[in-house]
Amino acid sequence: MTSISPGEADYTIKPDQQKRLDDFYQMLLVEADHFLGYPCTREFDYRPLYRFLGLPMNNVGDPYIPSRYHLNSHEFEREVVDFFAHLTHVRKDEVWGYVTNGGTEGNMYGIYLARELYPKGLVYYSEATHYSVPKILRMVDSRNIMIKSQSKGEIDYQDLAETIRIHRDVPAIIFANIGTTMTGAVDDLRRIKQIMRDLAIKNYYIHCDAALSGMILPFVDNAQPSDFSGGADSIAISGHKMVGSPIPCGIVLAKKTNVERVACAVEYISTLDTTVSGSRNAITPLFLWYAIQTRQYSGFRKIIGHCLEVADYAISSLKAAGVSAWRNRHSITVVFPKQHEDVLSRWQIAVHGDIAHIVTMPHVKKSHINRFVADILAAKQNKSTVCA
Ligand SMILES: Cc1ncc(COP(=O)(O)O)c(C=O)c1O
Repeated sequence: MTSISPGEADYTIKPDQQKRLDDFYQMLLVEADHFLGYPCTREFDYRPLYRFLGLPMNNVGDPYIPSRYHLNSHEFEREVVDFFAHLTHVRKDEVWGYVTNGGTEGNMYGIYLARELYPKGLVYYSEATHYSVPKILRMVDSRNIMIKSQSKGEIDYQDLAETIRIHRDVPAIIFANIGTTMTGAVDDLRRIKQIMRDLAIKNYYIHCDAALSGMILPFVDNAQPSDFSGGADSIAISGHKMVGSPIPCGIVLAKKTNVERVACAVEYISTLDTTVSGSRNAITPLFLWYAIQTRQYSGFRKIIGHCLEVADYAISSLKAAGVSAWRNRHSITVVFPKQHEDVLSRWQIAVHGDIAHIVTMPHVKKSHINRFVADILAAKQNKSTVCA
């Protein structure tokens, strides 16, 4: 094996700084055992890939076009995109995509593409949409309207239809949630398309934010159509959430014909500048590729089945403890009323208004749920003792 020469530099670290790193690592291990509130799995093992971290790899440019920067993993990146094309029901030759820095970049790409196709288009998104989307809309200076959400997080179709009706003269760009952040709600593409038909709107674009559920719905029976087969023009999925990665990443997919209309050539790297970022991570495509090779479709299906089972276990355990918990169909996000601050902090629970959630990612076991529920009961007990 070729060894990488560290050159003349001295990489020895002082003992006190080494101790800092060791203590920091121990702290992270403790926190990782109390990690219920965010949709990022800690179950992955990429040790066989660590040697690639010794090289200045960079996936700059379009993964489908040869670049003069040869230290890239474009070949693996394309295979990752192919796998997600299969999951989202689109032919490989009809789709283009790349590995992003995460769901946010994928959403930015989708909105950017829609905006390039329809410069006068109006973007519609629900109030349950991820907080980064209004920021993206400001960045691309896009006209937009927020639509009401229903109580469980799905977009309010009546409000959507009435709002689009008023603006029938401009193209509609729909930002659909395929699994909202707080409640895992899925907007129904069939109903959205029906609204377009009813209003005779021909120029429209649908971007799907499938950050988490894009890696759940392809693996469950009777999933609602929420991908290219349901009418999506582009889809963003996070890689570090369900597939798992120590470095945030994601996948964006878009119809090739649309991408070709906005691509532009750059001489400096002798390729097309189709991606949002210039320099791009070349390690995360390897991580995703490795996870796909080692797990395969059947492995992911088993993992998702386990997550749904733990979600149901969490609901029944919380209900038994007097906490009214629920989840949307095919979602692993378990929603319940906000609990005592000590419990929220210890288990890293995200809150929004009166509600909180846990997400039963692959590393969440029934034993974690038991400890979490015991902490809720103990907090209630302490509160009533203090009050008494
Ligand atoms: C629905 C939704 N969209 C987008 C994002 C942003 O994704 P990322 O953190 O990968 O940028 C999240 C993150 O939780 C999300 O829940």
